[in-house]
Amino acid sequence: MATRWDIDIRGLKAGYGDHVVLENVTGLLPAGCISVILGGSGCGKSTLLRQIIGLSRPMAGELLIGGQDILRLPKAQFRRLRRNMGVLFQDGALLGALTLAQNVVLPLSEHLSLSRAELRDEAMRVLQLVGLEDFADYYPNELSGGMRKRAGLARAIVAEPRILLCDEPTSGLDPITAARMDELLLSMNERFPDMTIVVVSHDLASLWTIADEVMVIRDGRSLFCGKPQDLKASTDPYLVQFLGRKASAPDTVEAPLQERSGRGMAARVRKILGRWLAR
Ligand SMILES: Nc1ncnc2c1ncn2[C@@H]1O[C@H](COP(=O)(O)OP(=O)(O)OP(=O)(O)O)[C@@H](O)[C@H]1O
Ligand SMILES: [Mg+2]
Repeated sequence: MATRWDIDIRGLKAGYGDHVVLENVTGLLPAGCISVILGGSGCGKSTLLRQIIGLSRPMAGELLIGGQDILRLPKAQFRRLRRNMGVLFQDGALLGALTLAQNVVLPLSEHLSLSRAELRDEAMRVLQLVGLEDFADYYPNELSGGMRKRAGLARAIVAEPRILLCDEPTSGLDPITAARMDELLLSMNERFPDMTIVVVSHDLASLWTIADEVMVIRDGRSLFCGKPQDLKASTDPYLVQFLGRKASAPDTVEAPLQERSGRGMAARVRKILGRWLAR
């Protein structure tokens, strides 16, 4: 497997049945960066994530992860790749019958032979990271939307994936909770410098805070793919309008990053996980 897991999208066409949502999307979402995918509601951002995760197959184009075209990978190899992806779905996608602690260790408990104590310990570790350690035994319906999102993030990162995909991590959150979510993503980027982080968002404040790279989708196409400062300088009328309607971009992008180192994964868990990931 490659050491850098860039996501390289080339001429991607995708949709549902006969309904083409994405006509032609091209762009690079590099490893070690936070890439933000931006675009109006219904333009196909979640659809694009589905292609990367392998939940749907594109109609045309290429999708390379770590230099390998995932559409041509044998199933077993794709499964291995998929294990290295953590996903925060738009609605959190927590299982209602499980507590938070049980939900967040699902990626570990499904396939690995870890003891209950080990799973509990890993659950507490990631819940602490997202500030939910006091809610470990709550059920999802006993939590606020923002708490569910944070729990979704905890589950997405519990196995320390090479690729972290987050669908609208800040939508529906108050500005303070949203800023906290941004901080968490920045701290993931700092803690795991090779991780490929992709964030779908409408949130412009969040964009200027976290993005190293931006892709804007419009009318089924990648209208822009590049650095935030180049997006800010663009004279494309749609981009000017899209960005101008909300708060303008600050001149300096200053991340309110707090040190959130936390403790690492238990050595035995890491060993068992490592063996499973390499299988
Ligand atoms: N499972 C599905 N089956 C059929 N059509 C779908 C499905 N999911 C999404 N679509 C359609 O695909 C289009 C793009 O939807 P998608 O969810 O990708 O948009 P989005 O950019 O993520 O929007 P939002 O910002 O509101 O989340 C929409 O027209 C939607 O109706
Ligand atoms: Mg969506």
